[in-house]
Amino acid sequence: MRLVKLIANLGYGSRKEIQTAIRNGWVTDKDGNRLKADSKSAHEDILFDDEPLDPAHGVVILLNKPVGYTCSTKDQGRLVYDLLPDRFRMRKPVLSSIGRLDKETSGALLFTDDGTFLHKVISPKSNVPKIYDITLDRPLKGDEATIFASGDMMLENEDKPLKPAELEVFDETHARLTLHEGRYHQVRRMFAATGNHVAELSRSRIGSLGLESVAEGEWKILSDAEKAKIFE
Ligand code: URA
Repeated sequence: MRLVKLIANLGYGSRKEIQTAIRNGWVTDKDGNRLKADSKSAHEDILFDDEPLDPAHGVVILLNKPVGYTCSTKDQGRLVYDLLPDRFRMRKPVLSSIGRLDKETSGALLFTDDGTFLHKVISPKSNVPKIYDITLDRPLKGDEATIFASGDMMLENEDKPLKPAELEVFDETHARLTLHEGRYHQVRRMFAATGNHVAELSRSRIGSLGLESVAEGEWKILSDAEKAKIFE
């Protein structure tokens, strides 16, 4: 791909702005040699403003979403995209979140520009478990784990029972829930159906991928090994 198009598609600017950046010498190779619009360098050898270019198509980003941010590109208020560099919003193909978290839920949220990867993560065939840490307003009654694991729990206004989910109880008001599907407000609705109320909710894991090295509000580009952990 021509250099101008390649850099513009990564969201660094319009084609005109990238042409200007090239003319100004902001686009170089690793040895500091200025590149021209028709230069042919490998993606990983190109620097923009002395920084390596973002990865090409196929990028997967893990964000540790704080409470108070909406998973949308255009709602009012704070958006998850505000936590990522502006250029990520201008990438072509676009960067989409893989599933959503409620505004009041924190934790692991993935983004990708790779539609095939996105579908693989959300496909029931992949059966990627999502693990949520929960603080409840009221003490657990004791039968929640059995109800959630039954495979016949029905949520209001739905016509299919929930898949079995595993509840690990830590104490009266703290638990961890593993889901194998993603329905609207699922965790909150499951506890509401048992007469409880979720006070705090955080997704701590997607598959075997955790948030260990990503602080709240921070993000990282996943390596191939980290991407593979989603399916482990
Ligand atoms: N379940 C919920 O209720 N909310 C989320 O954000 C994710 C799962």
